[in-house]
Amino acid sequence: MHNAAFAALGLNWRYLAFEVDPKNLRAAIEGARAMNFAGLNLTVPHKLLAVEMVDELDISAKVWGAVNTIRFEVQSSQPVEVRAVGFNTDADGLASSLREDLAVKLHGAKVLLLGAGGAGRTAALKLAAENVAELFLVNRTMSKAEEIAGEIKKQFPSVKISVGYPKAKVDLLLNATSLGLKPADGSPLDEKQFSLKQARAVYDMIYQPAETKLLAAAKAAGCETANGIGMLVQQGAKAFEIWTGQPAPVAVMRRAVEGSVYGV
Ligand code: ATR
Repeated sequence: MHNAAFAALGLNWRYLAFEVDPKNLRAAIEGARAMNFAGLNLTVPHKLLAVEMVDELDISAKVWGAVNTIRFEVQSSQPVEVRAVGFNTDADGLASSLREDLAVKLHGAKVLLLGAGGAGRTAALKLAAENVAELFLVNRTMSKAEEIAGEIKKQFPSVKISVGYPKAKVDLLLNATSLGLKPADGSPLDEKQFSLKQARAVYDMIYQPAETKLLAAAKAAGCETANGIGMLVQQGAKAFEIWTGQPAPVAVMRRAVEGSVYGV
């Protein structure tokens, strides 16, 4: 998606993928800095490790405790000094995708969130930071949902938060569990506890397969639906803007991602 975006804007830049063993992450970041790279993206398991390896953390990386984007900034040319600044675009990517792909207004919304792992925690805190009115957390291991609920109560006291399924309608049901990635997986939603007819929109952070069992059931129940491809595109678009300082050509990036993931 980045190479498509560079081409669309006529930038003579390249985006390359490298597989780096976690024990070599520091050396890889230093090597990229030494070779005058504009920046880096990092994925699991490097996002947490990189927090300790950059010179400065942007507020986004501080809040989420993880770095998925690094920008190398030239501080002075004599002697050459380049600083590595860490950002996190995942949470903003999710919020943008919810707005653009499902037309969800997060401010004042009622949301049921499934999952309390890494992705679930980021989603819960982002939803709270966007001032949702009410947040219901459900997770197989309930203690992890309780822990996140406690954190939100402290940080965002105006958000009504509870652990367990809602009794009334919600504006959004969001799946942040990994259940649905494998073909044999069932749905992460217990439909005996909550009917999909009670949700206006359903978002699944999984994008491969394009339609999980949850999304198929949600469509059949008449909900608006979207998968996580938009989050992938939007977090990339934000990284693109951090590196280039130019507005990202989001539609171009989305077409490139869909082409490579779904072959369309
Ligand atoms: P990620 O970084 O993708 O969030 P993770 O931190 O391993 O990955 O979290 C995976 C999430 O999917 C968790 O919410 C997990 O539930 P538990 O906290 O109970 O482990 C959920 N999950 C994974 N497999 C599941 C399954 N078979 N049934 C229900 N939930 C599942």
